[in-house]
Amino acid sequence: MRQLLADFRDAQCAQRVDFAAEEAPDRIVRALRERGFALVAMGGSGEADVALKTLATALHLGDPYVPALYQNASAREYSASYSDIRSDAEDRHPGFSTTAGQGWHVDGLLDAIGVIKTTVLFCVRAAHRGGETLLFNSPAAFAALRRTDPAAAKALLSPVALRRRATIPGVDASATGPVFRTEPNGDLITRYTDNETCEWAFSAGPPGGLHRALEFLRAASEEPRYRLSVRLAADEALVFRNDRLSHGRQPYEDTPDTRRHLVRALYTKAPTATGLPGPR
Ligand SMILES: [Fe+2]
Repeated sequence: MRQLLADFRDAQCAQRVDFAAEEAPDRIVRALRERGFALVAMGGSGEADVALKTLATALHLGDPYVPALYQNASAREYSASYSDIRSDAEDRHPGFSTTAGQGWHVDGLLDAIGVIKTTVLFCVRAAHRGGETLLFNSPAAFAALRRTDPAAAKALLSPVALRRRATIPGVDASATGPVFRTEPNGDLITRYTDNETCEWAFSAGPPGGLHRALEFLRAASEEPRYRLSVRLAADEALVFRNDRLSHGRQPYEDTPDTRRHLVRALYTKAPTATGLPGPR
């Protein structure tokens, strides 16, 4: 899995793929393979649903997926295929509708590890200040931990290591699972999250392992090699592997004329340029 070797200090990480360029889908798929994400300048009308549909078609992502949490009756108001992420004083969603920062997480709180493979964020408008999306190459950090402290890494693989609980008011739901999993072909997938939804089972795995593992991951998530801050401009999209990266957000400030607005779509498929599964 090439992403384990990625270095987010590489200037190439900030480069945009021009969607109008020849072989744009190939370039996007290559970037995802190398570092888990791709930045795309759509060069279109700036219409979110058009851009998201065009990208999903070019990358063979299939239909957008509604996460298990939003299939739940008490949270069905969030079950649209495309989710608007913008500040809204009337709304109760703790992530979508506030200007606060967001800690590391993967999308799909109730979905099992690996189910939601792709997240696409399309930027209608950037914030007046802040609002950068943060990316953490958590599988690469896990691979480093596995080399230096295998017992700590083992604790993260425990099927009861991490319980995530919904924080939407009035919604009582949670899901327990491992923090990382090794796929039969050796690939690593993640649901590493470190925010207010987390309940850690510190007794899981070798004694003291989970404490050490968390300490290691928290330090690694500050290292420029594993962490990248991305500021999307209007009409740009960020496509990333939700099963291979953790992500978060910097807090932001809006002005009446510059209100940050992103539109998100989730998919259970990984992007391919040809419709056939690509190499790792
Ligand atoms: Fe998210």
